Amino acid sequence: MASVSPSMSSDPLPSFIPLSSGHVAIDEDHRQLADLAARFRQAVAASNLPLAMHLFEVLLSGMQAHFKREEGLLIAASAPERYDHMAMHEDVMRELLTIRQDGFRVLRCWPDRAVDLLGHLLRRTQAHDRRSAPSFAGGGSLPPLALLLPQ
Ligand SMILES: [Fe+2]
Ligand SMILES: [Fe+2]
Repeated sequence: MASVSPSMSSDPLPSFIPLSSGHVAIDEDHRQLADLAARFRQAVAASNLPLAMHLFEVLLSGMQAHFKREEGLLIAASAPERYDHMAMHEDVMRELLTIRQDGFRVLRCWPDRAVDLLGHLLRRTQAHDRRSAPSFAGGGSLPPLALLLPQ
C-alpha cells in the first residue's frame, strides 16, 4: 500500500496534476482540464457555489470532448486496451453526470467531498492514459480543444 505523507492527508483539497501522454494536443487537453479542476477547487474553497457549478459544467463538457479525441486515437491505433479505456471513460462520465443530475447535492452539502470525488475520477483517467500513452503518441495532430472558459 502506498504511504501518505502527513501534509497530503491533512490537505482536504487534492492537487490536480496534468498528465504527459506524449501527444501534444492530448497533453494540452490535460493541462486545460487540470487548470479547470484547480479553478473548481478554488471556487469550492472560496464557497463560491455558482462559480463552482459553472466550472463543473465546463469541465464535464471538456472531459466529454477530450474522451472522444482520445478514443479516436485509440481506435485508429487499434490499441489492445481501447475497450477497457473507453469503458472507463463511460464510467467516469456517468459519475460526473450523476453529480449534475442530483442537482449538485454533493457540492452543496459536502463540498470537500465533491473535490475529493473529482480528484478520484481524474486519477482514474490518468492511470488509463498512462497505459495508453504509446498509442496516443503515434497518433496524428488534433486541433486545440475548444473550452468555454468563464471570464
Ligand atoms: Fe483517457
Ligand atoms: Fe486523458
